[in-house]
Amino acid sequence: MNKSLFITFEGIDGAGKSTQIAMLKEYLESKGCKVLLTREPGGSNIGNSIRGILLDKSNTAMSPLAELLLYYADRAQHISEVIVPALEDGYCVICDRYFDSSYAYQLAGRRLDDSVLDTLNQMVVDTHMPDITFLMDLSLEESISRVSGRGESDRLELESLSFKERVRHGFLEQAKKYPQRIAVINAMQSPNAIFDDILARIEGSGLLK
Ligand SMILES: Nc1ncnc2c1ncn2[C@@H]1O[C@H](COP(=O)(O)OP(=O)(O)O)[C@@H](O)[C@H]1O
Ligand SMILES: [Mg+2]
Repeated sequence: MNKSLFITFEGIDGAGKSTQIAMLKEYLESKGCKVLLTREPGGSNIGNSIRGILLDKSNTAMSPLAELLLYYADRAQHISEVIVPALEDGYCVICDRYFDSSYAYQLAGRRLDDSVLDTLNQMVVDTHMPDITFLMDLSLEESISRVSGRGESDRLELESLSFKERVRHGFLEQAKKYPQRIAVINAMQSPNAIFDDILARIEGSGLLK
């Protein structure tokens, strides 16, 4: 199978995105797909420089609008340099965070205006929509307990509990807005149970046929 497929994973830190992405990569490869894993911010050399600025916890002066524009600069580069060429080359692209994260963090979290987000999204993402998005949803308590062992926190991980709660709800709002594309997954389950839900959704979607 060499049909290209664009899959994104979303959700707060510790939701199990990296864990499920690794499992899905192995599964898709066993089905004969060429798989490219990528992430935002980052995913290109320029993007990784932007990622450094975004996650640097000494950048406490960053304005919400500057933050948003950096994410979209990263995304514009990522789409043109990495995502589109890979899809054209028949890859299944699995991306760890994409534009739904901007709606969750910058719109719901930072309370930026939705018209600003919509304008940027139209300019940058345009038709490059994922075929399917998995929103890994879990409680804040569980998120905090899972990431507590990870070492030093980055700039976003250091945000307040109320910010993180708004982000979680921002993701769920995106899922309401795009019910066909976004599958909400109960991320409180075991990794294998979660993966069963993901596979059921992929197989039920007919995308692999
Ligand atoms: N379903 C799960 N139940 C319990 N712990 C999990 C589960 N999935 C992942 N973890 C653990 O939680 C932590 C965060 O998982 P990770 O996949 O890195 O999340 P994310 O990429 O969304 O931040 C890791 O230590 C991982 O081993
Ligand atoms: Mg991760």
